[in-house]
Amino acid sequence: MNDALPDRLRRQDTRLDSYVDRYAARTHGMTASAIRALFSVANRPEVVSLAGGMPNIADLPLDVVGATLGQLVVDNGRQAMQYGSGQGEPLIREAICEVMRLEGISAHPDDVTVTVGSQQALDLVTRIFCDPGDVVLCEAPSYVGALGVFRAFQCEVAHIAMDEQGLDPGALREAITALRAAGKTIKFLYTIPNFHNPAGVTQSAERRMELLAIAEEADLLVVEDNPYGLLGFDAEPTPAMRSLNEDRVVYLGSFSKTFAPGFRVGWVLAPHAVREKLVLAQESATLCPPVFSQFAIASYLANHDWRGQIKIFSEMYRERRDAMMAGLRDHMPLGTTWTKPAGGFFVWVTLPPGLDSHAMLARAVTARVAYVPGTAFYADGFGSRHMRLSYCFPTPARIIEGTRRLGEVLEYEITVNETFGTGIDVGYTYGAGDRSPLRMYEAPGANQA
Ligand SMILES: Cc1ncc(COP(=O)(O)O)c(C=O)c1O
Repeated sequence: MNDALPDRLRRQDTRLDSYVDRYAARTHGMTASAIRALFSVANRPEVVSLAGGMPNIADLPLDVVGATLGQLVVDNGRQAMQYGSGQGEPLIREAICEVMRLEGISAHPDDVTVTVGSQQALDLVTRIFCDPGDVVLCEAPSYVGALGVFRAFQCEVAHIAMDEQGLDPGALREAITALRAAGKTIKFLYTIPNFHNPAGVTQSAERRMELLAIAEEADLLVVEDNPYGLLGFDAEPTPAMRSLNEDRVVYLGSFSKTFAPGFRVGWVLAPHAVREKLVLAQESATLCPPVFSQFAIASYLANHDWRGQIKIFSEMYRERRDAMMAGLRDHMPLGTTWTKPAGGFFVWVTLPPGLDSHAMLARAVTARVAYVPGTAFYADGFGSRHMRLSYCFPTPARIIEGTRRLGEVLEYEITVNETFGTGIDVGYTYGAGDRSPLRMYEAPGANQA
């Protein structure tokens, strides 16, 4: 028991934080998610987790990667294990330009800054641009990790409605006008044009041009976050926004989904002056991004058919996407709708009226299926009638079983609601107007295809 422990090992009372008055104001926005505890249960093998967004790297040829890393240590270990450039190693910056060419981007290695995953890119970009109270425009819904960064820098997030082609241009115009009329400073538009996390939709080429025209007109910086762009199932990649406008777009890329997330290598491609600030911010954050990881990825790209490997990944994800579509079609109750992603990892589900994905998560986990409630993807508490399902990790059979269990939970919730009534949703989305933004994916072709 505790009494047997010497004083120095006895646990102090941790229920009260004696430093509570000393934290910086920005840490007040850093709160642990209420659903974290549930997710530790969701990781048990008997639970089908449609919640996590972990890339499935089972198909990665570990023998090839291992041999490449071994050779790297023998040939170049001293340099690879030393401090390096704050901007990132020239070798990998050149390779990154080669990768980006697949999405129509022509870039010079000097304009690339290597980061610790694109998550750190989000942090650095927000750090150099945003003061407390500045507004960041985001899709409704948006990537939970980006919302966390914006919150940490005390930004205000304004959500912009989407349709089946991504961000709605009319809603974007409306938001810019309204926010500026209210005296707000908009620092940038944050968008995920390809295989959106969590919405699963992709901006068409026309939509990208329209959004960029608005950005030009409104003198708005665009932050294009593109970790999934090469993981399309059908067509060639749509040209990146950065390929259509070099001066107005800061582009974020990552090797997490096309190779492996554990190396933690991402990047920012930015106009020259912005790049200079990014490198200074990177040096103060890390001195330099991990050199060994950069060498490792550069060797992998040089010695392995990485384009072929991306195709193998895409095929595997396509099979899982198809399983999820089949499972949803067979098991969702009437009144449920969902998006059909053409790539990436995620499906966005809209529940029948009155259902609350946050409130029912504990019951779903008890029924051995997990998802992420829609509220995680809004800064303002909206989203309870939605959920994100990911198909990237479980096998097709488990995905179908997961949707079957979810269908049962939803049927039960509908019955409970019929008996006891329902709750209401909160939050505001620009462009939703009188129409509930919940209906945004009900356009023909986007649902139940
Ligand atoms: C849209 C989006 N941006 C950025 C990231 C961060 O990825 P990483 O830091 O591994 O590059 C993720 C990860 O899931 C993501 O989905």
